[in-house]
Amino acid sequence: MDYAWDLPPGFPPPRVPTTNPMSQAKALLGRYIFYDTRMSVNGTQSCASCHRQELAFTDGRATAVGATGENHPRSAMSLVNVAYSSVLTWSNPNLRSLEEQAPVPMLSDHPVELGLQGRVNAFLKQLPADPVYRALFPRAFPEAKDLFSLANIAKALATFERTIISARSPYDRYYFGGDSGAISESAQRGQALFFGQEVAGCFHCHSGFNLSDATVYQGSHGAPIEFHNTGLYNLPGALHYPWPNLGIYGQTKKPADAGKFKTPSLRNVALTAPYMHDGSVMTLEEVLDHYAAGGRTIPAGPYAGRGHDNPYRDARLTGFTLTPQNVQDLLAFLRSLTDSELTHDARFSNPW
Ligand code: HEC
Ligand code: HEC
Repeated sequence: MDYAWDLPPGFPPPRVPTTNPMSQAKALLGRYIFYDTRMSVNGTQSCASCHRQELAFTDGRATAVGATGENHPRSAMSLVNVAYSSVLTWSNPNLRSLEEQAPVPMLSDHPVELGLQGRVNAFLKQLPADPVYRALFPRAFPEAKDLFSLANIAKALATFERTIISARSPYDRYYFGGDSGAISESAQRGQALFFGQEVAGCFHCHSGFNLSDATVYQGSHGAPIEFHNTGLYNLPGALHYPWPNLGIYGQTKKPADAGKFKTPSLRNVALTAPYMHDGSVMTLEEVLDHYAAGGRTIPAGPYAGRGHDNPYRDARLTGFTLTPQNVQDLLAFLRSLTDSELTHDARFSNPW
C-alpha cells in the first residue's frame, strides 16, 4: 500500500474497507470529483457547494439547499475526520460506509441535492473526454475493467474524504503535543468543565480524541453508542420532535428513538454554525444555554414546548448552572478546537 497517514500523537489510523484501500492517486481523483460541478443536474453544484473547506466542510446555512433550489430538511455536516465516523448522516443507523454514502447526494430526489438521478450514464460518458480524468482514473484504478463507473467515483470520493483529518488545532498541540502554552488558561478551565463529571459532562457523548461517541478506528472495540435525544423539542403528540426530523425513529419506528441524532464531532465547531441537525441553534452561547437548562424551551410558535420534559431526552442531560466565567471558559475551549491549518490546507482545496 502506498499510503502513509502521517498522523500526530493521539490519532489512531482510521478503518478502511479492504475493498477500497487508500492511495494518493485515488485521493487526488476524489478531490477533483468532489469539486466538479458537472456532477449536478444543472452544473451549479458539487459536493463542495455544501461542504466548504473554509467552514470545516459545512455550508454556513441552517439547512442545506440543493442544485435545483430544493431545501434539505437537515443541516450539512462537517466532513472533518469523517474517516473515524462509525455511522453517517444525522440519523441513519444503517449507513456506515463512505462508499455507500457518496452516491446518496448524487442521486437522491427527495430532496434533490445534486440531482443526477436518471442522468448518471450521461455524466459518466463525458468523463473520458476530460484530460484530467483520462489521466487520473487509470492511475487510481489500475486493475479496473470498467474505469469510469459510479462505483469507482464513490471509492475515489470516499478515499479523498478519509484524508480530511483535523489534528492540528491549538487543543491538539496542547493535549497531545505537550505544548502547555498552546491554549489559554481560560480554555484549560473550559476543558476541565467539558471533561468533568461535576458540571457540564459533555464528554459522556462528545468523547475521545474526536469528541464524538460515534467513533471507530483500527483497534477500537465494542459497538459505539451513537444517537441521543438532547431535548431540543417537546411537541405534543407521541414523537415530540417536528416532522420530518424524527431522528433514528425514521428507520427503527420505535417511539423511544424519536429525536435521537448522531453525536457530531466538535472539531472546528466555532466554524460550523448554525448548530444541530436542523440548524436551529445559532450560536455556541445558545448551545450552552440549551445544555445548562437540560433541554431547550421554545416559549411560543409552532414548536413551543419545554425540551427538558421530553420523555426520551437522554437522562444524563439534567441541566447545570454555569457562572459567566464558566461560559467564557467553555467557549474558549470550544474555540481551541479550530484547526486553521486544515481550513487552509492546499491538499483539500479546489484543484480545478
Ligand atoms: C445540497 C447540499 C449537499 C451536497 C451537494 C452534498 N451534501 Fe453531503 N451532506 C449534506 C447534508 C444536509 C447532510 C446531512 C444529511 C442527513 O442527515 O440526512 C450531509 C451529510 C454528508 C455526510 C455524512 C457526514 C457525517 O459526519 O455523518 C457525508 C460523508 C457527505 N455528506 C458527503 C458528501 C459528498 C461526498 C457529496 C458529493 C457527492 C455531498 N456530500 C454533497 C448536504 C450536501
Ligand atoms: C447525552 C449526549 C450528549 C451530551 C452529554 C452532550 N451532547 Fe452535545 N450533542 C449531542 C447530540 C446527539 C448532538 C446533535 C443533536 C441534534 O442535532 O439534535 C449534539 C450537538 C452538539 C453541538 C452542535 C454541533 C453541530 O455541529 O451542530 C454542540 C456545539 C454540542 N453538542 C456541544 C456540547 C457541549 C458543550 C456539551 C456539554 C455542555 C454537550 N454537547 C453535551 C449529544 C450530547
